[in-house]
Amino acid sequence: MSYPYQIHTPEEYHAAYRKSVNDPEAFWADIAANFYWRKRWDRVLDWNFTEPSIKWFSGAKLNITENCLDRHLGSLGNKPAIIWEPNDPEEHHRVITYRDLHAKVVQFANVLKNNGVKKGDRVCIYMGMVPELAIAVLACARIGAVHSVIFGGFSAQSIADRLQDAMATFIITCDGAFRGNKEIPLKSVIDDALVQCRFVKRVIVLTRTRTPVSMIKGRDVWWEDEIKKVETHGNPDCPAEEMDAEDELFILYTSGSTGKPKGVVHTCAGYMVYTTYSFVNVFQYHPGDIHFCTADIGWITGHSYIVYGPLGAGATTLMFEGVPTWPDAGRFWDIVDKYRVNILYTAPTAIRSLMSFGLGPIQDKDLSSLKVLGTVGEPINEEAWNWYHEYIGKNKCPIVDTWWQTETGGILISNMAGVTPGKASFATLPLPGVQPMLVDENGEELKGNGVSGNLCIRYPWPGIIRTTYGDHERCRLNYFATYPNLYFTGDGCLRDENGNYRITGRVDDVLNVSGHRIGTAEVENAINMHAGVVESAVVGYPHDLKGQGIYAYVIYSGTHGDENLTRQDITLTVSRIIGPIAKPDKIQFVTGLPKTRSGKIMRRILRKIAEGETENLGDTTTLLDPHVVVEIRDGKI
Ligand code: PRX
Repeated sequence: MSYPYQIHTPEEYHAAYRKSVNDPEAFWADIAANFYWRKRWDRVLDWNFTEPSIKWFSGAKLNITENCLDRHLGSLGNKPAIIWEPNDPEEHHRVITYRDLHAKVVQFANVLKNNGVKKGDRVCIYMGMVPELAIAVLACARIGAVHSVIFGGFSAQSIADRLQDAMATFIITCDGAFRGNKEIPLKSVIDDALVQCRFVKRVIVLTRTRTPVSMIKGRDVWWEDEIKKVETHGNPDCPAEEMDAEDELFILYTSGSTGKPKGVVHTCAGYMVYTTYSFVNVFQYHPGDIHFCTADIGWITGHSYIVYGPLGAGATTLMFEGVPTWPDAGRFWDIVDKYRVNILYTAPTAIRSLMSFGLGPIQDKDLSSLKVLGTVGEPINEEAWNWYHEYIGKNKCPIVDTWWQTETGGILISNMAGVTPGKASFATLPLPGVQPMLVDENGEELKGNGVSGNLCIRYPWPGIIRTTYGDHERCRLNYFATYPNLYFTGDGCLRDENGNYRITGRVDDVLNVSGHRIGTAEVENAINMHAGVVESAVVGYPHDLKGQGIYAYVIYSGTHGDENLTRQDITLTVSRIIGPIAKPDKIQFVTGLPKTRSGKIMRRILRKIAEGETENLGDTTTLLDPHVVVEIRDGKI
């Protein structure tokens, strides 16, 4: 398979970019023509950002799995679609060809149908990084069910909230998951969630860890038993459901500045075209390359660049179950060596963590197969960029710094490997079809180069968010209401003298901890649920490994006893309510919080104190009680 839409030179990039701005519809129609449609579109794009209403390829009929699987069977049937590396290097890896993957998806799609799942039903998937996770995702897409994958690190309470929000009546999970030297009891977490969710009709449980689990009669069934049932019925086929271009493909929950995560909705056609197009161009994928994205499928990066983008392009995607530091910090490099990986896509936080182990874990590893390196999820500091470039890429691999979001579906700003130049800590240039714009607080456009402001996008691209599940107004308010007729990203950004973009971080109350998005309000809500806590305020502070750490100021009225024990109790509460990823790194007990007379917490001051600033805390005269600032500053931990 070759890609007629692959860009090979800077000139081709600039020509494609120009065309995408001058005639976006013709541009995307040309690209979409390379996919398999049951019926072509009537209109390429209908949109307005006021409602918002965005429709790509209206009238088209398709199924994304026919594009990710069926259409490759002729030419790539025996080629590996997924290579799976287990947590334990002693366990056998698996290679799943396109033919095998197709068969397994079809088979599991029939299992879903047998269990009563229908087009449009929401199916929650809570699994570890086993190939069956990708199979479950694709099987949902096959029959038109809307998948909602929840990262295996979220708590029972978080799962229950998401199940209720989407009214997901089906769940696919595992008995447990392996992560480094830990075993995560996934089914037991689901059981806890389901105490609050009596509407769930069926839980399909895959065996992975063989940890004991309770199986409730009439509700819970084993994956393996269900597969046997469809095998004995002897019908191996499951024709793909014909979907409208704008039918929902999946929901993925993500944090915002309010206390409740929102269900970002992506639809079939635009997402398919955009993830495949961006995959091929940013990573400069060539048939036969092995692409290793280290993300979890529970995040958007896994959806777009482990599953849909690579499979849409007929690529070989490597899926890894474990963690970068177990059994030792050479795990990634062993995998690169073992499978002759060509493209490695990971997060700055993983790079910084592996850097801290020195060069020992890299010695004796053959990394010569690497052609392209990528990063995602947070700004990459120059030190980490240089280390990645020198010691992993041996100064010969371009690094693509890819900026995007759950809401954007795919990469929006990035260099294209070996085609357009990279620049340390810059995401560089927009992909064709992406029209960035910087604005000041009043929404005035900042024209020209050498400016910084809030990053907006002024025109739709096919992968853009369509709605937030069950609450369209929330989608409008969050992304389309801050600045009229613009999509607002929530990120601050600088455009340098040459027009390269550098993302400087969130400008809203969202933290980026180890590349994971966490809302400060969410963490505050969780802390406030702990008995004895009166009020709390959470801010981010610079953290060497995580990028940002979570700093919590807590007013506590319970009997203190040992302060450290109370801190641990609060931390455990956050783990229970959200999950371990949201645990505060620092908790400072305070007697008051700096508030304006209207009761608003002045986070700016708290952020400065958390960052270690003691002198220039800014104007405190508008505070209700300026003295509280002195007390907080002097009590900083
Ligand atoms: O702040 C930006 C940061 O991650 C946010 C999106 O988070 P999420 O939806 O979880 O998706 C992460 C994976 C796509 C953005 O608003 N971010 C993402 N990529 C970069 C980045 N910040 C700087 N540089 C990047 N390359």
